[in-house]
Amino acid sequence: MEQFAIRGGRPLCGEVAVSGAKNAALGILAAAVMSDEDVVIHNIPDVADVNILLETIAETGVTVKRQSPHDVLINGSTIRSRIVDNSFIRKMRGGYYLLGALLGRYHQAEVALPGGCVIGSRPIDQHQKGFELLGATTDTVNGFIVAEAEELNGAHIYFDTVSVGATINVMLAAVFAKGRTVMENVAREPHIVDVASCLNSMGARIKGAGTDMIRIDGVDKLHGTEYTVIPDQIEAGTFLTAAAVTRGDVTVKNVIPKHLECITSKLREMGCSVEEFDDAVRLYVNRPLKGARVKTLPYPGFPTDMQPQITVVLSTVKGSSTVTETIFENRFMYVDELKRMGADITVESNTAFVKGIQKLMGTQLSAPDLRAGAALVTAALAADGDSTVDNVHFILRGYENFADKLKSLGGQIETVFSEAEAKKFFMQVVS
Ligand code: UD1
Repeated sequence: MEQFAIRGGRPLCGEVAVSGAKNAALGILAAAVMSDEDVVIHNIPDVADVNILLETIAETGVTVKRQSPHDVLINGSTIRSRIVDNSFIRKMRGGYYLLGALLGRYHQAEVALPGGCVIGSRPIDQHQKGFELLGATTDTVNGFIVAEAEELNGAHIYFDTVSVGATINVMLAAVFAKGRTVMENVAREPHIVDVASCLNSMGARIKGAGTDMIRIDGVDKLHGTEYTVIPDQIEAGTFLTAAAVTRGDVTVKNVIPKHLECITSKLREMGCSVEEFDDAVRLYVNRPLKGARVKTLPYPGFPTDMQPQITVVLSTVKGSSTVTETIFENRFMYVDELKRMGADITVESNTAFVKGIQKLMGTQLSAPDLRAGAALVTAALAADGDSTVDNVHFILRGYENFADKLKSLGGQIETVFSEAEAKKFFMQVVS
């Protein structure tokens, strides 16, 4: 089974380029299906979730031409089926954006119920509520969500909870709804803005993305476009925390520093030195770090997708910290793994109480999900001694060339496929 073998203890230093944002790309690729003209998307990350979505889109008959690992041409005119299903799409979340896209464009969609990381109950009632207010019926039949409409009409939709997925999905469906749709209490993440900008470049009329109210005036048609996906805020944040936990000096390039402020402001508060450039952010550690209180919130709050990574840093920082998770109820599953590395963490309800220790110790680890998996890798890179991290497939869902990028920063990490290969790596690698 694919694993990472990691010898810890070295500060990560150097520059690393961040890939396109996975979660923006998933929404944008679904949007591309809504046009009968060529839509060319640049800077898509070469990660499993994106590749699975592209394969799934191709299975519906839509033209998908991968021009390079980071560029794809999509043309919806050749679509044959509005049924979206395969064993892979059931394991990820982003597939459900085809529900909004196909419902909007063809008034009919059947999409296998989404999976994704097991970090909470993850209902989709708000997606359904939005579709229904636009005039669709939705039902769950044999593991599929079926959405249909005679016609879609603009509506006033007030979401009960701030949901990234529901905001994007309902926005996709509303693009073709007759008249004006007003969506309130929507998510404001950078990838919401990116999906809206791509749709607008195709002729949609969406205003307000990035605020808590989005207004959409329906159009009859979306035309072709060429669009570049924004950099991945969470990948960038993960490398910054990797620099912090290894007490290193890393510059993440190709980023939008504004999108990282929700993360860098907390790292600064902990004592990290952070420098911002036009499209790069440097983080280095030149003094002892201190504990902090972290609470996950929708953007521009501290992202839940960075919660495991910041907890790893806090576990090595003198003093007491608290990390409160308010978005997903089951997102502390990695804490037991960290405790096996010596971390002193107690979880009560939705809060982790962290007492910093001097040094984590390497051990055999298992990635419980995408972000926690990446966080455990950063912990292993900082730890004394050797670690292996299995279930790497979770990490590869959202991080492109993760091991290679960490290696380029001086991380001692190798992808191995057996215990023997791991042993060989540990014999060869210098301490
Ligand atoms: C997206 C991201 C994920 C990130 C999350 C929060 C993608 C593919 N995934 O997931 O990486 O962790 O945003 O930033 O973009 N909720 C409901 N009803 C709904 C929808 C959501 O109650 O219909 C709740 C969820 O249970 C959760 C909260 O709303 O407590 C936020 O979830 P949401 O923003 O929808 O997350 P996802 O879109 O699944």
